[in-house]
Amino acid sequence: MKLFFTKKKWSEYRESLTGPLGFVPTMGALHAGHLKLVHEARNNNDFVAVSIFVNPKQFNNTEDLINYPNTLEQDILVLSQAGVDAVFLPSSSEVYPENDTFITAVPGKSAEGLEGAFRPGHFEGVVNVVDRLFEWIHPHNAYFGQKDLQQCLVIQEFASEKHPNLKIVTVPTEREKNGLAMSSRNLRLSEEGRNRAAVIFEVISKMKDSTADYDWAIEYLKQYEIETEYLTNIEISLNTDTGLMTKAWVFAGYLEGIRLIDNVLYN
Ligand code: PAF
Repeated sequence: MKLFFTKKKWSEYRESLTGPLGFVPTMGALHAGHLKLVHEARNNNDFVAVSIFVNPKQFNNTEDLINYPNTLEQDILVLSQAGVDAVFLPSSSEVYPENDTFITAVPGKSAEGLEGAFRPGHFEGVVNVVDRLFEWIHPHNAYFGQKDLQQCLVIQEFASEKHPNLKIVTVPTEREKNGLAMSSRNLRLSEEGRNRAAVIFEVISKMKDSTADYDWAIEYLKQYEIETEYLTNIEISLNTDTGLMTKAWVFAGYLEGIRLIDNVLYN
């Protein structure tokens, strides 16, 4: 597995590749959900590249950025074991140089509301970095986890205009045995917190099946010390391996000071 720290070295390597390239952008602290993206990329491309870059521009909260988990050595080990060909590990100044001439895309309509409302600037930051990575890595297919549902929608929307030949592949959320959606931020929960957080998936599944109502759901989450930021039903248009998904129940809230999100998709 090759490691690249600069765009220049990466582009020399990129020019040597002849077949389809699958790309998985990450912020590190890799878990089984990321590996599912890597496996999907491995199965459908001749080459697989992963980027690890904790993008400061997408954190609306400095404390969240400072506390973002970093497990770089372990990440590199698991990526090499997963058959990844190349890892792109740019520094901040490589991504955002002083005399920056890159004209970045801006998020479209799908960035309105939900995460867009509660995390001002978040999707501007995501699109800014993902647009650059798409331009430099130049993949045929790019892989994103459905846990970050609105991110998938925002990326699908801007990429269809600015990177029309690139296919955005969204991959179902990987869950712990108890239903908790895998997330790098789970590393910051206590063991008890990780057990409690399982009720989030229970609640959104019940909302989807219409076996619970909103007031009950909020109270039930509170009993597990989970403070809801939003719990709502939205209309979407998301390409998945099981076809186009048109609806979702989405949740965001706090447990032990950690912000958690999850969703269930349906038609
Ligand atoms: O989902 C993430 O980890 C990040 O938002 C991404 C897509 C790597 C952009 O920094």
